[in-house]
Amino acid sequence: QAADPEPAKAIVKEKCRLCHGEEGEASSAIYPRLAGQNQTYLVKQLRDFRDGKRKSEIMNEMVSGLQDDEINALAGYFSSKPPLSHQIQDKMLASVGEYIFRKGNQYSGIPACQSCHGKNAEGSAELPRLAGQHKRYISDQLLAFGLRARTNDNAIMHTVASKLTELEREAVALYVSGI
Ligand code: HEM
Ligand code: HEM
Repeated sequence: QAADPEPAKAIVKEKCRLCHGEEGEASSAIYPRLAGQNQTYLVKQLRDFRDGKRKSEIMNEMVSGLQDDEINALAGYFSSKPPLSHQIQDKMLASVGEYIFRKGNQYSGIPACQSCHGKNAEGSAELPRLAGQHKRYISDQLLAFGLRARTNDNAIMHTVASKLTELEREAVALYVSGI
């Protein structure tokens, strides 16, 4: 059952808006957009930050005092906001990214991202939407997975990300940001 988004609004205004925007639009590209992000995925990330499983000085601090029902309400609030997208300038780079996203790289053993993240990069209940996310945030996370700096899960993303070349990482991040 979806959590009531109303109680979340006060928390968003007080604690989250500064970085993620009131509608989850995150106008600075270093902060992830939360608008339209999948609810179960958001709940897991917030719990992981709270329990110290996902490390981020800022976010560990932000969620340290939140109860489960507040986390559920925040996830419900942001997941109900309409997702946004980006206009892509470098079409050629994006097409390299599309290849990786749709087919992976058979020569280095990278699976197609779409096999888990969905044909339109919409994700699923447990998996993050990548569509419309900031390129900068996506490539930062891929770097963090590759270096095992993002430790909350998961073997799959560690393997995938450590095989991406810099070009592939930037290209796939650009491509999904424009979906
Ligand atoms: C990441 C929620 C406040 C900075 C995230 C993520 C969520 C989230 C769900 C992970 C997104 C994903 O995995 O796609 C919230 C909520 C907040 C809040 C509900 C209010 C209670 C803030 C504030 C700041 C901030 C005020 C800045 C001062 C960040 C940063 C990350 C992040 C830098 C990326 C962390 C990383 O690199 O792993 N936030 N946030 N957040 N948030 Fe927040
Ligand atoms: C998380 C990108 C392939 C499963 C993520 C995130 C990114 C990403 C950027 C973090 C999103 C965020 O913080 O909001 C990619 C790319 C791929 C790829 C570019 C292809 C090169 C895959 C595949 C699978 C997968 C093939 C499944 C076999 C997951 C899961 C998470 C995740 C389960 C969530 C981890 C968590 O709960 O913290 N992926 N991914 N990904 N990805 Fe992928």
